[in-house]
Amino acid sequence: MAARMMPGRPVADAVFADLAPRITSLVGAGHRPGLGTILVGDDSASAGYIRMKQEKASELGFTSPHIHLGQDATQADLLAAVREFNEADDVDAVLVQHPTPPQIDFDAALLELDPDKDVDGLHPVNMGRLALGMPGPVPCTPAGIEALLAHYEIPVSGREVCILGRGTTLGRPLALLLSQKRPTANAAVTVVHTGVPNWPDYTRRAEIVIAAAGVPGILQPEHLTPGVTVVGGGVRYEGRRLLPDVDESCEAVAGAITPRVGGVGPTTIALLFRNAVEAAERRVA
Ligand SMILES: NC(=O)c1ccc[n+]([C@@H]2O[C@H](COP(=O)([O-])OP(=O)(O)OC[C@H]3O[C@@H](n4cnc5c(N)ncnc54)[C@H](OP(=O)(O)O)[C@@H]3O)[C@@H](O)[C@H]2O)c1
Repeated sequence: MAARMMPGRPVADAVFADLAPRITSLVGAGHRPGLGTILVGDDSASAGYIRMKQEKASELGFTSPHIHLGQDATQADLLAAVREFNEADDVDAVLVQHPTPPQIDFDAALLELDPDKDVDGLHPVNMGRLALGMPGPVPCTPAGIEALLAHYEIPVSGREVCILGRGTTLGRPLALLLSQKRPTANAAVTVVHTGVPNWPDYTRRAEIVIAAAGVPGILQPEHLTPGVTVVGGGVRYEGRRLLPDVDESCEAVAGAITPRVGGVGPTTIALLFRNAVEAAERRVA
């Protein structure tokens, strides 16, 4: 039997529906939320991502001040842009678009960012808050995956979840998130990576497998138990072509699976705006 598809769009729509009245009350209280974006360089794909987020910001009633630095911008230029948004009263959340040109140290720029305005939730302070279970911006793709599993009523609590990949934007924060004591998490989480050559032994026993490696086609049907829930987070781009970690043939084995396109992408953007709204609510409070 073909797997049940779990597209991200309905999940994102539910998140935006929850945010709409919260944005209205912020505006009613005299605070229009602001998402500041910073782009370094002329990469057309990155410019496209920023444009898409600005369009969504405007649709939701946000302001979206933008700083575009040239391809030859220095680290000092980027740090100055980050500081400008840190201090701006009309900016609640800041996004520095990744990747940046080779002369830029992205991590150093992240450290300069006010953790309370860190919309991606990747600042070390926010990773620490996540580890400690303290409130704060949560990395968007992991938070989107938790929301996606909850939306499709996939039981997570008490289940075996195996995450393939321990990267800092996806696998590692997702493991922290899904092991928290909360009805939509509370799982027995295993994280596998290149240090675990027999990783298929772990994915095969899991009830939920989340691919977060960025290795096209790494997850194959023989790595799965029939009926498993599969979430594809890892992708690689070759030009404009998107190559997912999860091979298409996994659809024949899984019970539920994210589509190859339109899975965790839409949920990531929705959770980015949830972080931005929560940042604005914290500042108003
Ligand atoms: N859709 C979205 O919106 C979105 C957002 C964020 C990230 N992503 C995607 O998610 C993926 C992960 O991102 P990240 O930044 O967390 O990645 P990362 O830092 O590159 O980490 C990749 C992880 O995969 C593991 N891995 C790679 N090849 C492997 C192999 N052959 N066998 C076993 N494990 C292997 C690595 O193991 P080692 O640690 O041992 O090297 C590492 O832990 C990327 O494809 C990224 O594009 C998507």
